[in-house]
Amino acid sequence: MISRNEKIEPPSDDKRWRIVQATMQRNGFTRDGLIETLHTVQQSFGFLDDDSLRYVAASLNAPLSQVYGVSTFYHLFSLKPAGRNTCVVCMGTACYIKGAPALLEQIENEYGLSRGETTEDGHLSLMTARCLGSCGLAPVAVINGHIAGKLNAEEALQRLQALQEVENVQQA
Ligand code: FES
Repeated sequence: MISRNEKIEPPSDDKRWRIVQATMQRNGFTRDGLIETLHTVQQSFGFLDDDSLRYVAASLNAPLSQVYGVSTFYHLFSLKPAGRNTCVVCMGTACYIKGAPALLEQIENEYGLSRGETTEDGHLSLMTARCLGSCGLAPVAVINGHIAGKLNAEEALQRLQALQEVENVQQA
């Protein structure tokens, strides 16, 4: 019997996706295989990007926010580009309407970087994503693997500032 999830098309016709699909199949296309699947993507392609995370989420029927959460929480996974901390701001429609552009702009201004970049000291990578599947919490960001909802710019900056403080303590 062909599983429904086997019909989800991979992001490209790159043959490496067959290896990824085999991993998902071995785990019955269940979320139990999420970490192993992400590991296979990383081993095959060297990093995880938005398209691959979407493909894995759809294939395993897992919320995209969970997939982003796992891939930014475990340091063995590398989203490109990878700083020591990651902030993924959702720019999907619901988040956009609820103020995500202003949120993103404030973070960009504060850290002097643009989306897709990492600060020079490697402290923070700022990324954006299309809908993370948690629209009820819009605007949403995933900060170091933890989903933060109904964010305003001030709260987002406070959370990021807290990461800096943790690093300062660790380096002291
Ligand atoms: S648009 Fe941001 S979570 Fe859906």
